[in-house]
Amino acid sequence: MTQFRIAPSILSADFARLGEEVRNVVTAGADIIHFDVMDNHYVPNLTIGPLVCEAIRPHVQVPIDVHLMVKPVDRIIPDFAKAGANIITFHPEASEHLDRSLQLIRDNGCKSGLVFNPGTPLHYLEHVMDKIDMILIMSVNPGFGGQSFIPHALKKIAEARRMIDESGRDIMLEVDGGIKIDNIAAAAAAGADTFVAGSAIFGKPDYKAVIDAMRAELAN
Ligand code: DX5
Ligand code: ZN
Repeated sequence: MTQFRIAPSILSADFARLGEEVRNVVTAGADIIHFDVMDNHYVPNLTIGPLVCEAIRPHVQVPIDVHLMVKPVDRIIPDFAKAGANIITFHPEASEHLDRSLQLIRDNGCKSGLVFNPGTPLHYLEHVMDKIDMILIMSVNPGFGGQSFIPHALKKIAEARRMIDESGRDIMLEVDGGIKIDNIAAAAAAGADTFVAGSAIFGKPDYKAVIDAMRAELAN
C-alpha cells in the first residue's frame, strides 16, 4: 500500500510564531515540513534561508523538505544540509550542472530531488533517475502560496509515476501548489504520494481537522 505523506508548507505559517507553528502542525499530523526558499531572482519573491531552517530544526522531529527556488543552487546546498535539511530539491533550469548539483546534495547527506514547473518537461529526468530520491511536480507557477491548482499537473504526475515505476526505484512523488481537501484524492489517483499544502492548512484555525480530512480523502 502506498505510504502517503502530508507536507505542510510553512510559507503560509505565521512567521512571527514560527517555532510554535511548526510544533503545532507536526502535532496535528504533518509527516514532513515543506520549506520554501525564494531568492527574488529565480522567482519574484523573497523568503527564508538556512538560518531559519536551523532555528526550526530543534522544534520538529519530522524531515525538513527544502524546496529551493533559487539560482544558482550549488552554493546554498551545503548551508541547508548543515542547517538540518533532510531533503533538498531544486529546479533543473536553475542549475548549470544538474548531475553535479544532485550529487552535491547527496554528498552532504541529504535526499535529493528535482522540481518541475508547469511548463518544464520531464525529460530532465532521463539520465539522472539513479541520483534522485524525490520528484516534485508543481501544480502552480512557483513564487507564492494561495494560488489555484493547475489541472494539467495531473497528467504530469501520471507521467512521472510511470517513469518511477519503470525505473523500479524508490522515489517519492510530491505535488506542490493549490492542494486542498477537495483535490488531494485526484492528485493521489494520478500517482502522487507526498502532498504539499500551505494555505489549505495554515489558513485554517484547526490544522488537525484539515490534515485528518486530507487523510480521509486519501483512504477512499
Ligand atoms: C509555491 C510554493 C508552495 C506554496 C504552496 O511556490 O512552492 O510550496 O507554499 O502553497 P499553497 O498550498 O497555498 O498553494
Ligand atoms: Zn514549495
